[in-house]
Amino acid sequence: MTERPRLLPLLGPTGHGGRDAMTCIYRCGNACAHPVPNESDNPYFGDVVSAEVSRRGVVRAGAVGALVLGFGGAAAGALAGSPALAAPRDGSGGTLPEVDSFTPVRRPGNAALTFKPIPPNKLDTLVVPNGYDHSVVIRWGDPVLPGAPELDVHRQTAARQSRQFGYNNDFVGVLPLDRKGERALLVVNHEYTNENLMFPNFTTFDAMSVEQIRTAMAAHGLSVVELERVGGTGEWKPVRRGGLKYNRRITAHSTRFEFTGPAAGSAWLRTAADPKGRTVVGTLNNCAGGVTPWGTVLSGEENFNQYFVGADAAPEALKPKLARYGIGTTARYPSDSRKWERADERFDLAKHPNEAHRFGWVVEVDPFDPESKPRKHTALGRFKHEGANVIVARDGRVVAYMGDDERFDYLYKFVSDKKFKKGDSWTAREHNLTLLESGTLYVAKLDYTSAGEIDGSGKLPADGAFNGRGRWIRLVRGNTSYVPGMTAADVLTFTRLAGDAVGATKMDRPEDVEPSQLTGKVYVALTNNTNRGVGTNPAADEANPRANNKHGHVLELVEDRNDNTSESFAWSVPIVCGDPADASTYFAGYDKTKVSPISCPDNVAFDGSGNLWISTDGNALGGNDGLFATAIEGPERGHLKQFLTVPLGAETCGPFITTDNRSVFVAVQHPGEISGASLESPASNWPDGDFAKPGVVVTWRLDGDVVGS
Ligand code: FEO
Ligand code: CA
Ligand code: CA
Repeated sequence: MTERPRLLPLLGPTGHGGRDAMTCIYRCGNACAHPVPNESDNPYFGDVVSAEVSRRGVVRAGAVGALVLGFGGAAAGALAGSPALAAPRDGSGGTLPEVDSFTPVRRPGNAALTFKPIPPNKLDTLVVPNGYDHSVVIRWGDPVLPGAPELDVHRQTAARQSRQFGYNNDFVGVLPLDRKGERALLVVNHEYTNENLMFPNFTTFDAMSVEQIRTAMAAHGLSVVELERVGGTGEWKPVRRGGLKYNRRITAHSTRFEFTGPAAGSAWLRTAADPKGRTVVGTLNNCAGGVTPWGTVLSGEENFNQYFVGADAAPEALKPKLARYGIGTTARYPSDSRKWERADERFDLAKHPNEAHRFGWVVEVDPFDPESKPRKHTALGRFKHEGANVIVARDGRVVAYMGDDERFDYLYKFVSDKKFKKGDSWTAREHNLTLLESGTLYVAKLDYTSAGEIDGSGKLPADGAFNGRGRWIRLVRGNTSYVPGMTAADVLTFTRLAGDAVGATKMDRPEDVEPSQLTGKVYVALTNNTNRGVGTNPAADEANPRANNKHGHVLELVEDRNDNTSESFAWSVPIVCGDPADASTYFAGYDKTKVSPISCPDNVAFDGSGNLWISTDGNALGGNDGLFATAIEGPERGHLKQFLTVPLGAETCGPFITTDNRSVFVAVQHPGEISGASLESPASNWPDGDFAKPGVVVTWRLDGDVVGS
C-alpha cells in the first residue's frame, strides 16, 4: 500500500448490542439474525422453584481528556502439584521446561488492585493506566516459522500465510520455558478472518479467488511462538534468531488432528476422506481456551456452523441436528456463507453431511512438542465451545469447565476418570496427556431461591441476592449414556440435544468458564442476550435476571465441599454489568460510584492473588472494549476497575497474566471491524498507522512490580 488510507467516519454499532454489523457477519455468521437454535421447551422460570503519547502510541489515562465518555461511575498456583517437566523423548520435540506452574503463582503480600482506572474512551489506540507501558508482541502476518516472509497484502498466498501469524487472535497462553523466566512460549488462537480487511479490493465472498479462500483458511487456527523477556522488564518479544524449534502454525487448511475418546471412530464422524472417523484436517473458529496444569493448551472450536453450506440437501433425519448447531437447512447458502466449499468440497454438506460433526470440539495442543498431532477430545462433548479451563480436584482427578456460547445454551463440566500425576518424569507427562480422553460429562441445571420475585428489571430479590443451588446432570461416561434414547456417541456428538433432553438451564451466552486455582470457585462470563424475555423466548430467571440483557453478567459457582468433582453446587451473581448509574447493575454490593462501567464480559483470567480479570466483547455502552479487574474475596470484592482499552472496532481477548505476575497479555481482535471499512479505507490504523491488524499486546509496570497492584 503506497497511499496512507483515509479514516472512515465512524458509523457506530449497527449490529446487535454493541457489536458492529461487520462483527455479526464475520464472527458468527450473523447468528443473531437467525432463529435461536435452542427451541427445546426445558424449564426456565417458575417451574424450578427451589497520556501522553509514547513512542509506541501508548496513551495513558492522564492524556485521554476530551475523548472520555461520560458514565455514572467514578471511572471506572499455587497450582497444586504442577510438574517440573521432564527431559524430552526428543528427536521430535524440543526440551520440556523445568517450571513449577503454568498459571500465575501466588504472590505474597497485598493483593489489592491499586492501579488508577482508565476512563471509557473511543480512541484508536491501546490505553493503559499511568505507570504502565505496552508493546505489540506480534501481529497478523508477522513471520512465525523460520524464513517466513513478511506480510505483503498484495502477495499473500496460503503458503505464505501458513508460515505467518494468523488473523484475529483470541485466546492467549504464555507458558514458561525456563525457571529464570527469560523464555516462554506464546500460544494463540486465530478465530476467524475479516476478508474485507485482509484482501485488496474485496467485494464479496463469491468474488474471492480459490487461493484467497485457502489463504483465509491458513489464517485460521493457532500459532506457537517462542518469546524472550526484554531486558529484565515485564516486556516480551518474539525470538527472531536460531532454529525456532517450537514455533508452529496450526491451520484450518492443512493440519491433521486426531479424534480421541468414546465418539472417535463412531459413524457420526466417518466421511469419504476418513472412513474410520479418526482423523480430520483443520480446526475452525478457535475462540478461547486454557492452559492445562500439565503444560498443554486447550482451544475451543466455536462458530463452526458458518463454514458449511448445502444442508438443505442433507438427509432429512439429520437436519434437526444440524439446525440445533445453527446450520441453516432451508437454503443451499445460508446468509453470509463463507463459501469455503469452493476451495474444499467437504464443506458442502449436500455431499459430505458428516463433515460438520468433525468440528465443535475442544482441541488439545502440546506446544512443547512441535511434531505432536493435535487432538480433538470427544469426551468433552460437541457444542460451540468457547474454551475449557482445567483444575486439579482434591482427589487428583481433573475437571474442565466449559461454556456453549449461544443465547439460551448451557454450562458444562467434564471430570476425568484418571488422576493427574505429579512429578517431572516423562511417564507422568505421557499419562497426563491422556486425562481428557475418558471421563464424565455433565450439564448444569440451576435452582433458585427467589424465583417468584424476578421481574426482568434486575431488581435484587428480598433475600438480597440472585442465587441458588444447582446440580451437575450426568450426560455420559465412557460408553455409558445417561440420556434416554441417545447412545454415548450421540450424546457426545449432539451434546446440545442431550442438554435439551435433561432440562439444562438456558443461560445468556456462557463464554469463558474458569476456576480460580486459589479458591476452586468457578466464574462464568455471560456475555449478553438481548432475546431474553423478548417475544416467545424464555423470560428472565434468577440466574439470568434481566430481560433484554444487553450488558451481561458474571456467575460465581461454589462446588459443594469445595470439591470440583462434586455433583451439586451453590451459585450467585456477583456482577451484573452496565453503567453503574443504571439501577439494574450490581457489583457485589460495592459502592457503585467507585466502579468502572463494563459491558459484555467475555474472557476471564486470574492473577496470582486470585483477582478476577475480565475482558469484554461488544461494549453496548458506546466506548471501546477493554480489560477490567476486581478482587473477588474480601472487602474489595466488586471494586471493578478498567485497566485497559483496545482500539476502535476491536474486542479485548486473552487475557493472560504471566506466572510471575509481571505482565498482562491481551489479544486485540478485529481492530477496525466497522461497517463500511475495507483494507483500502480502514476504520482503524492500529497498530502501525496504516491498515488495521489484529495483534497480541503485552502490558507491564514501568517500575517492574507486579501488575494490578
Ligand atoms: Fe468467540 Fe464466544 O466468542
Ligand atoms: Ca435469591
Ligand atoms: Ca469469546
